[in-house]
Amino acid sequence: KLEYRGYDSAGIATLYKKHKLGYTCLERSVGNVLKLEKLLIKKPCLGSIGIAHTRWATHGNASKINAHPHYVNGISIVHNGIIENHFSLKKKLIKNGSVFKSNTDSEIFAHLISIDKKHDLFSSVKNALSIVKGSYALVVLDEKNPDIIVCSSRMLTLVIGFSEHGNFVTSDFSSILSYTNKFIFLEDGDVAILRVNNVEIRDINGKLKQKSICKIDSSPSNVEKGCYKHFMYKEILEQPSSIYNTLYGRISENSFNLTLKEVNLSKLSNINRIIIVACGTSYHAGLVAKYQIENIIKIPIEVELASEFRYRKPYLTKQSLVIAVSQSGETADTYASMKFSKLNGAHICSVCNVIGSSLTRLSSDDVGTIYTKAGFEISVASTKSFVTQIVALNLLGLYIAKNHCTIINDEFIKRVQLLLSLPELMRKVFSVEKEIIKISKTLVNNSSMICLGRGALFPIALEGALKIKELSYIHAEGYACGEIKHGLIALVDENMPIIVFACHGFGYNKTIGNINEIKSRNGKVIVICNEDDMQISKLVNFVIKIPRSDMLLTPIIAVLPLQILSYYLACFKGVNVDQPRNLAKSVTVD
Ligand code: M6R
Repeated sequence: KLEYRGYDSAGIATLYKKHKLGYTCLERSVGNVLKLEKLLIKKPCLGSIGIAHTRWATHGNASKINAHPHYVNGISIVHNGIIENHFSLKKKLIKNGSVFKSNTDSEIFAHLISIDKKHDLFSSVKNALSIVKGSYALVVLDEKNPDIIVCSSRMLTLVIGFSEHGNFVTSDFSSILSYTNKFIFLEDGDVAILRVNNVEIRDINGKLKQKSICKIDSSPSNVEKGCYKHFMYKEILEQPSSIYNTLYGRISENSFNLTLKEVNLSKLSNINRIIIVACGTSYHAGLVAKYQIENIIKIPIEVELASEFRYRKPYLTKQSLVIAVSQSGETADTYASMKFSKLNGAHICSVCNVIGSSLTRLSSDDVGTIYTKAGFEISVASTKSFVTQIVALNLLGLYIAKNHCTIINDEFIKRVQLLLSLPELMRKVFSVEKEIIKISKTLVNNSSMICLGRGALFPIALEGALKIKELSYIHAEGYACGEIKHGLIALVDENMPIIVFACHGFGYNKTIGNINEIKSRNGKVIVICNEDDMQISKLVNFVIKIPRSDMLLTPIIAVLPLQILSYYLACFKGVNVDQPRNLAKSVTVD
């Protein structure tokens, strides 16, 4: 269930007892969890206590020796995150006689804990953590303590799950929903000791903590593929109902009002600048929202890549609001950006999908979190999280605008009603699937493509290009229509497919001009346009028609054809749709 977080290699360590002594059973393999499962069928691991891991390689290639768990003298560990001072620690350990078997930074934990003979396991773990710099979610097994698991986290999520049949610790609560819906989210620096029938949580100084258990009512079937071949396809089709859930319970029946109970409005009264920080698809959602809401809240909005923002020492004041957009709520760069913003006096707010994730906890004592309520998104390629992020940002924009009196009532009601009509409108777009299958077959052998858009369709072009790249491994570039003559047009020839978003309201006539420029250089044009556009088909090679709608909704429905196109490109290429090579769903390292 955690495989979406990394699938380079996988491993498991269990402890079993013989004459009261603990012994470790360790199996690791390169590739996905299925490969490990096959190994375990032949050679099962004994015991009723264990740890397992799926890896996304950072230090050391994807190989058996680099796979977790790492085992050193009775200690087995699994670790997510990066040990920033690993060079100096490793050097010191080697000097003192430790022999490293892997090229990972994580193995350091196993050495640090195993050489500490003076203390009990809890204290050895605590001591190791005190000298390690960086982020971690660490879980430890010890042959000398065969009835316990010790774990701790800093800047990464670890969730304890409680059940009558035993206790669990995991990086994502959805992975254990078949066993329990009772959870405790560890706080930074907490160290927990799990036994079959009890769990002790201590702070870094060893002081016992009383934490209340939270119940999350979600069915394990929501994390299943059901009758679909791929999670991605299921998630594409789920988008109308995901959007319904984003809106549900937040808008009054007559559309005159909107409540975001989770937002602490008092923190927003003096805001004079908004910065949205995010990565990948979530960044594109931020860009779309900027086009849509800046003019109703009348506060300048900047959208920044979190991986740039965090390192450039941005100037912030207490009148700045920094909004993180993240499906997982765990993306390391986004988290670091928010931590920086908080420390530098800005207000912070998150738009997240995963309940209890790191970003939501960080924002909880400030403006808070607007949950997108997209439902579990398992496919590595984001689809439903993207559209729900845009809708959630629109809700936030409307909420601020209404409370700051920067929007007239008619415009407020119009926008709310448009958002409410979105699920139905999206369903209509799915009828283009057949046409897209046909187009995908003609594109599958291309090595490069371009996606073009204007206004709020420009970030949709960026998102379309990202989807094509990550799913089909075809190079694709998103570009603003108005920019092509400044360089990109040099790439145009009869072998270059160019996907153009040409919808009414987004500089349509100028976009037609761009299409003509491309066609006169023999480019192959695939256009996404409105269904009532009768003339464009004469100009281009392929047409994908979407309903004519208000400009607020067009970008949100226009992304669907590109999601479907990239899905079929991946299918026709025969690559792994839900787990594209080299990627992981949550990028929890810098
Ligand atoms: O969990 P996040 O939204 O913070 O993830 C950010 C990106 O890694 C993510 O949007 C990525 O670009 C998509 N999965 C690509 O489809």
